Amino acid sequence: MVLLGPPGAGKGTQAKRLADAFSLEHLSSGDVLRAERASDTPLGRQVARSLDAGMLVPDEIMLEVMLSRVLRPGAAEGVLLDGFPRTLPQARGLDEALEAADGQVDLAVSLEVPDEVIEERITGRRSCPQCGEVYHERFHPPLRPGVCDRDGARLVQRGDDTPEVVRQRLSAFHVQTELLKAYYRERGSLVELDGAEPIEVVWDELERLVRSVKSKAAR
Ligand code: AP5
Repeated sequence: MVLLGPPGAGKGTQAKRLADAFSLEHLSSGDVLRAERASDTPLGRQVARSLDAGMLVPDEIMLEVMLSRVLRPGAAEGVLLDGFPRTLPQARGLDEALEAADGQVDLAVSLEVPDEVIEERITGRRSCPQCGEVYHERFHPPLRPGVCDRDGARLVQRGDDTPEVVRQRLSAFHVQTELLKAYYRERGSLVELDGAEPIEVVWDELERLVRSVKSKAAR
């Protein structure tokens, strides 16, 4: 399954819940890149430049770091891709690799959120540096302000969540990633959901959708 949507659409928030509910392996391209960046290797430094500028990381690098993880045999019932693919060459590269392994993208969900909603979502986001749990100061606050409910760690703000970098990330989304909707629509796997609804409403829709796709696939 592939989750598409602009920065702040709620991909990570919903992906964590979907992965738990349906025993899917959650692969977030942003998390993979942030881990790569922390490694301080030549690749990590190249990735850091793109992340800090809100630009997409080149396709060859993305295909290399993501496909090895997608194809890794695991116990999970399937893989949930959050943030990858983001360009047409990435989508084609993913399909080719899956076909060779007798797999396919069964479902591509696009979370539709207008640009006006994005800035408040992103500037209010806080996350736990230890467990990765994502909060929002207004829409999904922790029980104690600034502290993770799960492990008590102090919450942090992502370095690329500044208004200028968010504008660049949104522009990259509109120029490159929106084209993917047509790609998955042609293949009959695209479903568009209203991601501007509250978290629980989006979750209900997603859960129903994935349940129905799974039961069709099982028949
Ligand atoms: P990445 O980390 O993937 O960032 P992104 O796509 O910009 O998405 P975000 O993580 O910002 O948002 P999200 O949709 O997960 O929203 P969230 O659930 O956190 O990528 C970062 C960078 O890496 C890119 O800019 C690029 O440089 C590079 N990159 C990554 N993948 C790449 C690729 N394939 N190719 C090339 N480069 C790549 O929610 C946001 C906030 O809103 C949270 O606070 C949450 O609590 C709140 N919220 C969520 N849902 C709702 C709701 N329904 N109502 C109210 N609040 C909500």
